[in-house]
Amino acid sequence: MKKVLVVGNGAREHAIAHALSRSPQGPELYLFMKAKNPGLAAMAKSFRIAKLDDFNALSEFVKEVNPDFAVIGPEDPLSAGVVDFLSTLGVSSMGPVKELAKLETSKTFTRELLENNSIPANIMFRKFASTDGVKEYIENDLNNEFVVKPDGLTGGKGVMVSGEHLQNADEAVEYCREVLKTHPSAIVEEKIEGEEFSLMCFSDGKTVKAMPPVQDHKRLLPGDQGPNTGGMGSYSYADHLLQFLTKEEVEESEKIVQMTCDAIRKDTGKEYKGIMYAGFMLTKNGLKLLEYNARFGDPEAMNVLPIMKSDFVEVCEAVINGTLDQMTLSFDNKATVCKYVVPDGYPKNPAAGQKIELDEENSEALVFHAAVDQKDDGLYMTTSRAIGFVGIADDIGEAERIAEDAIKAVKGPVFHREDIGTKELLQKRVSHMEAVRNGKTL
Ligand code: GLY
Repeated sequence: MKKVLVVGNGAREHAIAHALSRSPQGPELYLFMKAKNPGLAAMAKSFRIAKLDDFNALSEFVKEVNPDFAVIGPEDPLSAGVVDFLSTLGVSSMGPVKELAKLETSKTFTRELLENNSIPANIMFRKFASTDGVKEYIENDLNNEFVVKPDGLTGGKGVMVSGEHLQNADEAVEYCREVLKTHPSAIVEEKIEGEEFSLMCFSDGKTVKAMPPVQDHKRLLPGDQGPNTGGMGSYSYADHLLQFLTKEEVEESEKIVQMTCDAIRKDTGKEYKGIMYAGFMLTKNGLKLLEYNARFGDPEAMNVLPIMKSDFVEVCEAVINGTLDQMTLSFDNKATVCKYVVPDGYPKNPAAGQKIELDEENSEALVFHAAVDQKDDGLYMTTSRAIGFVGIADDIGEAERIAEDAIKAVKGPVFHREDIGTKELLQKRVSHMEAVRNGKTL
């Protein structure tokens, strides 16, 4: 029987474990988690609780378990070199080595990779190791429409956009000064407008295969208002397109990811094995790359993994062995809507340690645990996204209803975005994209 080690403890990793458990090969799952996720713990043959970059604890666990391969969920252990470390123990991983995780951990690595290899979809950018020249670049080259990002992992926070978080070049200079206290450089990019989508691809270092595109919702409140979050929910369509995105645009996006994979191999001599998650924006000038992540999206993993028809164990092995070209990757033609339930006050002042009650047994939706603790008397939230509910159906309206009904049955001081996956919001996306394509905005 195959033994699979999963590193991580969120709802994304619960979805990964769920997909592995559906494999006809019936693998045994071993979890390395920084906190006990009850959903994951219940699926695991055994688990270990430790910091995800505690390689001594990982080494002990690996020696006990002797896994056939590992799947790495979050970016932090990738950034700490967990794949390189596991490889010294003879364990191969679905996940890139530290040097290639730079695709996510260094914004400039990625922008320069695209630039040096003439890969389309790049945008105007400049890296700054000091604040010298920031003001001039913004005023003269970017026409005061800009985005400033720290050059490193920020957990989805830290991206400041002109007109929203920063009002002029002077404020951008001040923000760069802040960023440079904790990061070696800041990156200033042109601001673009359009609709965002996530295209997650498997890569074995040579071949790239895409999963259905998904749209995430970063803002806390309905109508895309309020602060940014880790992602409040996401949806995908049964035809594996999005309503504002054509088949040709999806194919072009996949080609860009393939070109990036080839460029990595050419420039570094190393093969990228794992997930290449491309965050694209469709603009009036076509596809533009916002960022790459080196892992499955959270919540996006909860949309695509449950509808994957292919054996996920086989897919992981194809990624590791470089045989992805010999595999057909297929997904059910089902629509999905994922909604996260979060504690009241999230993300700024979440009420910690509050009880949440749900009836998982009778839920029509899939239920993925994130930041929740199982105590003797029930389930308690911590301070982050608590539970992901996923409705799956032939059409998106029904998928949305399934997710909503499941959430309505939840008891506790929780909040969620009711508008994700609704007809109104989907139509708003389409209308916005139409206006953008016609040059009617910005
Ligand atoms: N959904 C955003 C992320 O996973 O980074």
